[in-house]
Amino acid sequence: MPSTSRQGRIVLVGPMGCGKSTIGRRLSELTDLPFVDLDDYIVFHAGCSIPSIFRERGEAAFRDLETQALEECLGKRAVIATGGGAVVRPRNQELISGSGLVVYLHASVEAQHERTSRDNGRPMLAVEDRLGRLREIFAQREPIYRALASFTVDTDRQGVDQCAAAICRAYQGQQGD
Ligand code: S3P
Repeated sequence: MPSTSRQGRIVLVGPMGCGKSTIGRRLSELTDLPFVDLDDYIVFHAGCSIPSIFRERGEAAFRDLETQALEECLGKRAVIATGGGAVVRPRNQELISGSGLVVYLHASVEAQHERTSRDNGRPMLAVEDRLGRLREIFAQREPIYRALASFTVDTDRQGVDQCAAAICRAYQGQQGD
């Protein structure tokens, strides 16, 4: 398990629709840490939406912005919600690993599908067979989420408040080490 004590940082990883932003905001209220959503950070600095970045510059350009955002944000005291694909690049894995309390928010593919079904802002899901796509992406990324995280929270079985409280307890436990 990476050493995470007293870094004042919680990094949430997990697939699209696992609740990283919602749980991250709640967690920020429970701790004294500001909340940073990496996707919002990228959009703010790029001055355009994620679908436009993918459409006009391509996925690789988005991934470059994502690495840059991680480099800039992982130095802050914060609860940081990463994008679902932020764990894929080895450089990003290096940045995330040991950066703080890294928590994997697990959601079944069915829950991911349900929670993302009304959203058209995710270019990775701009396909006909969204469930199949989510399955394929999850198979590639889940081992990375597990390897990077200090622990996993199951978002299928627990609500936002319960998930946030469990992470907060772990964080406060580490601050008191
Ligand atoms: C992506 C997930 C998105 C966003 C981008 C790419 C991915 O973030 O970063 O659309 O590759 O899984 P969320 O996980 O917050 O939806």
